[in-house]
Order: sequence, then C-alpha cells, then structure tokens
Amino acid sequence: MRLLHNEKDEEAFEKAGKIIKNGGLVAFPTETVYGLGGDALRPESSLKIYAAKGRPSDNPLIVHIADPEALSLIADPVPEEAWMLAEAFWPGPLTMILKKTDKVPPETTGGLDTVAIREPDHPTALSFIRHAGGYIAAPSANLSGSPSPTEALHVIRDLSGRIDMILDDGKCRVGLESTIVDLSTERPVILRPGRITLEELKKLLPGVSLDPGLKSEDPDLRPKAPGMKYRHYAPKAELLIIRGSEQRVVERINALAEKDVREGRLPGILCVEETKNAYPSGVVLPVGSRQKGEEVANRLFGVLREFDERGVDRIYSEGFSEEGIYLAVSNRLLKAAGHKELWV
Ligand code: TXA
Ligand code: MG
Repeated sequence: MRLLHNEKDEEAFEKAGKIIKNGGLVAFPTETVYGLGGDALRPESSLKIYAAKGRPSDNPLIVHIADPEALSLIADPVPEEAWMLAEAFWPGPLTMILKKTDKVPPETTGGLDTVAIREPDHPTALSFIRHAGGYIAAPSANLSGSPSPTEALHVIRDLSGRIDMILDDGKCRVGLESTIVDLSTERPVILRPGRITLEELKKLLPGVSLDPGLKSEDPDLRPKAPGMKYRHYAPKAELLIIRGSEQRVVERINALAEKDVREGRLPGILCVEETKNAYPSGVVLPVGSRQKGEEVANRLFGVLREFDERGVDRIYSEGFSEEGIYLAVSNRLLKAAGHKELWV
C-alpha cells in the first residue's frame, strides 16, 4: 500500500491510475469523505469494492466524474434539471440519480436501472479520476456500518490490507457525505441530506421534497436509497439521543452518566461547545458550536470514532435541529443511534 502526501506527485497519480485500470482499488480524498475507488465501468471492480467494505451488493455505488460532460456516456436521458444542478453545484457535494446507459454494469448500480453520479470538489480527487479513465465507482472508504472516514488514518484503520493504495491529502472539508437528489422520477426527491441543503435545492427545483422514508421507522416506508436503510455511521458503543430543552437535556444526560459510573460503566457524552462544562462525568466530546452547523457536520464522524478509541460503553448525545445543514447532522446521528431517541 502506498501513501501519497503531495497532490502534485504525478508519479503517484500515474500509479493510482494503473491500479484502477488493472482492476484494483484506490482510496482517495474528496471534499465530503474519503472514497474507495474502482473502475465504475468494470463489473469485477465493483464486486471487489463490495468485498473490501463488507458491504451488501444490493447497495449501489456512486460514479465519480471529473467533468460534467462525462454525464452523457453513463446517463440517458440527462434532463435539463441535471445540467442546471451541475452548473450550480459541481464540482461539489451533490449526487444526482439518473437513468443509466448500458455502459454502466448492473454490479455498479446494485442491479438498479439508475445510476448515482457526482463530480467531487477536490483537486486530488479530480486528478485521480482523470488518470484512472474518468469513471470511478466509490462508496465511502469505511467498513460497512462504521462512520465514514474524514481522514486517511480512518481509512487505514478500516481497510488496511484490503486495498492497493491510499491517496492521503489530509482532512476532508465537509465531513458528511454528499446530498443525493433523485432526478429519475417525475418529481425530484432528496434521498440523503447533506451539505447542499433542501433550502438551497428548492431555489432551483421548487418541486423538490424529502424522501419520507428517511424519517420513518415504519418498515413499509423504507428509504429509497438502499444504503439509507442500514444501521450505519455507528460507533461500537450504543448511542442514545436525548432531545428537549437544553436544561432538561443536560440534567437527563448527567443522571444517565452518573448511573453508568456508579455501575462501573464508562459513559461518553456528545455535546456542543456551549454546554461542554455542564457535564462533570464521563468522556465529554464537543462537536463544535451550535451556532456553527458546518463545524458540527465536519467533526461528527471523527468524534463518533473517538468514542470508540476511548473505550466508552455508552454514548449520550444532545439532539440537533433540522434546519439547513443540521438536517444532515440529525439524519446521520439518528442512523448511528439506530433511531433511539429520548424526549425529555
Ligand atoms: O460524499 C459522498 O457521496 C461519498 C464520497 C466518497 O463521494 N460517497 C458515498 O458513497 O457516500 P456511499 O456508497 O457510502 O453512499 C452512496 C449512497 C448509498 O446510500 C446508496 O444506496 C445510494 O447512495 N445510491 C447509490 N446509487 C443509487 C441509486 N441508483 N438509487 C438510489 N440510491 C442510490
Ligand atoms: Mg457510506
């Protein structure tokens, strides 16, 4: 496994490109999270990706491109809205679902007749994609079920020995996976919230709505993106979200944490900068200021992984709103908690 620290290392890009063309796997940084890349147009490469991640093969992959024009080869039709969104948000943290062409093998799309496509906003990612033939299938580069990797060290911890190379270019700027919008149906639907918010998308797509399956625990109302139905982003310790007024939340978390300590367990507390001093016991990890949603989004996965490293037995998390970027934060946290929320 080779690590690249310098994005201008032409030799490393060439090597990464060769690995992909020979059917191998390369992890690479994007502005959202690290991806685990293989050739999107080769069935064997996609199968290898599923095996390396330990991921069910009915969960389709995102095809990463380095130029919006590349859409035309893999999607048909490409509706006007898709070009408009590409113009507004690419390169960037937005994935579009479109009807696929025959160029995209069913192994890449989990057997679906649609394909997920995105142009990442990261110079290393774009250079890698270009060296590797232009179409890189990549899920997040974590083991299936664990929090997505926001730095190369997370990738090494999860996938060392399972992949051929990592392009290391530091920490990811956004820290949460891309927003997914489905344009293959009559009306556009957000299948996964992210840094590009519902509010922003509504300005260009007034008819866009949220997939009702995202919030529901009803098994008949499953999220449409196959990956959103699994317990995911999850630290090893059980996570419980406590929601309500700030004062009640603090009181309840302290009561739960003190009980754990009395009974010989180590509690972890996920909170914001504003409340971090209100928790006297347990491993207290603030994710950022509540006033700075982007900071909270950026640190969430790293903090979830840190709880595991610190060996906590349970995690209690403060809740967040669903405004703007917090919709994505709340969605990932709820999934990490397996939908366990306590209102106080
Ligand atoms: O930010 C991101 O999107 C990162 C970076 C690496 O680009 N990638 C990422 O990939 O998060 P992954 O595989 O972890 O998540 C892709 C999600 C899954 O929930 C999958 O089910 C959904 O996209 N998806 C992919 N293709 C789809 C399709 N054709 N229809 C519906 N959902 C799809
Ligand atoms: Mg993932």
